[in-house]
Amino acid sequence: MTRMEGHQTTMKCSRKVVLFLVCLCLAVQYTAIRSIQDLFPRPCQDSRQCQKCPEKDHSWKSSYNNNSVPTKHTTVSARKHIHLFSQTRSGSSFAGQLFNQHPDIFYMYEPLYHAQQTFCNYSKCLWKPMDRVVQAVYRDLLFNLYTCDLNFLENYIQPEPQDHLTASFFRQTSSHALCSPPVCQEGDKEIMEGQPDESWCHKKCRILNLTLASMACQSRSHVSIKTVRIPQVSDLRLLTEDPRLDLRIIHLVRDPRAILASRITAFTDQFIAWKIWNATDRQPHYVDLTQITRTCQDMVYSVDIGLKKPDWLRGRYLLVRYEDLALNPEAKAKEIYKFLDLDIDNKVLTWISQNTNVTSSTSSKYSTSRDSKTTPESWRLNLGFDIVKTVQTLCNDTLALLGYKIVQSEVELRNIRNSLVEPRTF
Ligand SMILES: *[C@@H]1O[C@H](CO)[C@@H](O)[C@H](O)[C@H]1NC(C)=O
Ligand SMILES: *[C@@H]1O[C@H](CO)[C@@H](O)[C@H](O)[C@H]1NC(C)=O
Ligand SMILES: *[C@@H]1O[C@H](CO)[C@@H](O)[C@H](O)[C@H]1NC(C)=O
Ligand SMILES: *[C@@H]1O[C@H](CO)[C@@H](O)[C@H](O)[C@H]1NC(C)=O
Ligand SMILES: *[C@@H]1O[C@H](CO)[C@@H](O)[C@H](O)[C@H]1NC(C)=O
Ligand SMILES: *[C@@H]1O[C@H](CO)[C@@H](O)[C@H](O)[C@H]1NC(C)=O
Repeated sequence: MTRMEGHQTTMKCSRKVVLFLVCLCLAVQYTAIRSIQDLFPRPCQDSRQCQKCPEKDHSWKSSYNNNSVPTKHTTVSARKHIHLFSQTRSGSSFAGQLFNQHPDIFYMYEPLYHAQQTFCNYSKCLWKPMDRVVQAVYRDLLFNLYTCDLNFLENYIQPEPQDHLTASFFRQTSSHALCSPPVCQEGDKEIMEGQPDESWCHKKCRILNLTLASMACQSRSHVSIKTVRIPQVSDLRLLTEDPRLDLRIIHLVRDPRAILASRITAFTDQFIAWKIWNATDRQPHYVDLTQITRTCQDMVYSVDIGLKKPDWLRGRYLLVRYEDLALNPEAKAKEIYKFLDLDIDNKVLTWISQNTNVTSSTSSKYSTSRDSKTTPESWRLNLGFDIVKTVQTLCNDTLALLGYKIVQSEVELRNIRNSLVEPRTF
């Protein structure tokens, strides 16, 4: 045998070894996934749903890659992937409860927080939120969470989870599934007594097992994620185009004047200049107008696209004004569930009646429950007229597009009996 032939034989041989190893590896992965599925049978309660439940879960475990999506023979799953798409202080905690309270939905409250923390040190960020790199990271993370791989978050959680355990999961208590069995076995009594998770879960369920959380996600029929860190709906395009997800977007908007009033109250440190402006009715020269301007631009841009119904968004986009939801929570909730083609659960309706009811004793104790009939326009008593005028100039397009009336005088602003929310259907 010449040296050349010998070399070729070795190459053939090593190829075989590699092939064998690849097969072995795939087999091991397949077995592992099967055994997780066996542990938690897929949620196919009724037969109608069962027929639609595809036998293709191993593809779900792969990372986000549009190229590998089969274009033909794709069975669309009955599993809903719901995106509550909003901006800070737009009422999204409240709206998120419409999903969090549903026993078949696995709800996550702003998981992108963890990814953002790795780019940012306090308010200084390595990248701007618009950067494509950041959006790619968010998209990857969202895809993995929608397919119930919560372990993917371990790359971002600080301090790094050990043995898949963490005590630092952002707003764990806002996710009912992460406060109930099998993820947390501790809260039987509290859940039975109907105590809100926020009041006890932090104490009793603090150490979160992310593997267990992933399994709990798989065992529920649908997944819903709320984000306030994605600027524009077009940043979700690749996800809406992925036939494995069949994504539905609920775009929650709110009057930018109300958003601003709420931010000034909630984030006092960052809004000191605004506080001074509000108190004196004179604009300090160092006040930063870029944030509210960008909020309005992002809103108008996304609503514009959503209402134009491009192919990649058709049937997947529902615009909801927070004011309409707050004034008529039950009717709006039913409309949202109809759009999702899901049955609303009695637990959701019960939560609404208990938390949007002025006379109910539990209301207004927790951030998501409120006297919703007065809240949406109470900002009008809270914001100096000079600020209002400025926002009306900066955000005139947004206000007009969404049906929020502008005021010409302070008297008009304070006269809360005349609503500034025009009736609209979108
Ligand atoms: C992703 O895949 C879908 C379906 O195959 C296709 O319509 C869409 O154009 C793809 N998007 C990109 C950015 O490749
Ligand atoms: C954040 O920045 C400050 C100073 O700008 C620095 O002292 C601190 O160590 C940084 N923290 C992290 C986690 O990088
Ligand atoms: C986390 O949960 C998984 C699944 O139940 C279990 O196998 C594992 O032992 C748990 N991890 C720890 C550290 O308890
Ligand atoms: C509001 O709460 C009160 C007291 O809990 C209750 O009696 C009443 O039926 C509730 N109303 C609605 C509309 O749910
Ligand atoms: C603005 O000032 C008024 C008093 O002029 C005060 O009642 C209100 O709480 C202030 N609003 C904010 C958001 O600080
Ligand atoms: C908003 O203001 C800009 C600049 O003054 C103007 O060009 C635009 O037409 C206004 N939009 C509406 C809806 O009034």
